Amino acid sequence: MGEPNNLYKQQTSVNREKRELMLGQRGCVLWLTGLSGSGKSTIANRVEEILHSRGVLTYLLDGDNVRLGLNKDLGFSAKDRQENIRRIGEVSRLFVDSGLIVLTSFISPYEEDRQSVRRIFNDGEFIEIYIRCDLAVCEQRDPKGLYQKARNGEIKNFTGIDAPYQPPITPEITVDTAKLTVEECANKIIEYLVEHQFIS
Ligand code: PPS
Repeated sequence: MGEPNNLYKQQTSVNREKRELMLGQRGCVLWLTGLSGSGKSTIANRVEEILHSRGVLTYLLDGDNVRLGLNKDLGFSAKDRQENIRRIGEVSRLFVDSGLIVLTSFISPYEEDRQSVRRIFNDGEFIEIYIRCDLAVCEQRDPKGLYQKARNGEIKNFTGIDAPYQPPITPEITVDTAKLTVEECANKIIEYLVEHQFIS
């Protein structure tokens, strides 16, 4: 059956099942969301290190890196953030189809945009992780000096200051980085992967 615009989905003989069998792992995406300075990149890095040391093949997509390449045409309006997240969702889907455990580290401030990404994955494969941290703490950390710039009016549409952040409604995992250490947050995520048999 044809699809709109004369596009036809092709099946390849080397498929996800065969790749996963070869790798001895199951693909999924660990989707980290949270304010700037909440600790997304630090935790994603630590989780990836632990997975790597256990012999799991992973790939980490990180905010600034993706915005310097694939998404360098996008800014921080609600529309551009939506497109940013849509593309990252599609890239993640390709990597998950290759059998990898993908980690993404983006503010992804809109519930609707995250839900749209969730819908392109099979049930259970989109694991939303809320990196919770009060705005006051993020602002105090201000690792890149961006909150200061936003307060001074040098950056417009800065998340938490003059652009919204909508916390996840039903995340699979929540970690509070003001209360837990990086190691504790990372272990909570690893435990989830073990419990749900993504890794042993
Ligand atoms: S989004 O909302 O998901 O599309 O954003 P993301 O791709 O994760 O990019 C966030 C990083 O971009 C820097 N930056 C800004 N963040 C928020 N608002 C504005 N206006 C902004 N301008 C630049 C900032 O370094 C973010 O990185 P993190 O790691 O979150 O601090």
